[in-house]
Amino acid sequence: MSTENTFRIDGREISFKDGDTVMDAALRAGEYIPHLCHNPEYKPHGSCRICVVVVNGKHQCSCTLPAARGMDVDNSSEAIVEKRRTLLQMLFVEGNHVCPACEKSGACQLQAVAYQSGMLNPHFTHFFPKRSIDSSHPDLVFYFNRCILCGLCVRVSRDVDKKSVFSLSGRGHKTRIIFNSPTGKAGDTELAITDRAVSVCPTGAILPKHLGYETPVGKRLYDCKPISVVGDAARHHSVKKPFINGGSDE
Ligand code: FES
Repeated sequence: MSTENTFRIDGREISFKDGDTVMDAALRAGEYIPHLCHNPEYKPHGSCRICVVVVNGKHQCSCTLPAARGMDVDNSSEAIVEKRRTLLQMLFVEGNHVCPACEKSGACQLQAVAYQSGMLNPHFTHFFPKRSIDSSHPDLVFYFNRCILCGLCVRVSRDVDKKSVFSLSGRGHKTRIIFNSPTGKAGDTELAITDRAVSVCPTGAILPKHLGYETPVGKRLYDCKPISVVGDAARHHSVKKPFINGGSDE
């Protein structure tokens, strides 16, 4: 056995540094573990559970699990992919994720992870929620039926943009994202289209106005390559070049 800091993913030896999670070490080594609430640029949160792996026989969240010597991680057996597919199917029926009608199609992490896991149908009964659309902001529109409550916009607005524009409110299945403004409307916040918080949404819940089809469907980031190869959509956009369509690193 190696004396270095290493563990195994699907039999491959992976090095890690002190403080790394399994996800950190895996992504650095080019080993893709599906994730939605995690963005490698920010602190992990551990809420969506899509990054589930089996470690020494136990199901664990790889984005929050500290890496340790000698771990044996199953990231790609049919059994673990099946678990992720089930979690994805639950996310799909809990919201209204109508991919062919969504402007984010082809650049959406939720859609791309579903493809990557081989999800072919929703399996469960759709909830068909009727959550509001907020179009009060001059540059952005919010489709709450597409929100998976990953909390990335909340965390990034608070920790990176230092604005705390969003909050999570309510409990259980009534949890939702709200705006911290006197009217509860996005247009009455100090949110700007250049804020990092608006570019980290892994679904089509936060979209810029006027840019919906700048890159044609079929030529977008995940239309061209699978998410396991290109990684998170937010990585491919600067704040000056909005994030809707994906497609290139410029
Ligand atoms: Fe790990 Fe969401 S990516 S729990």
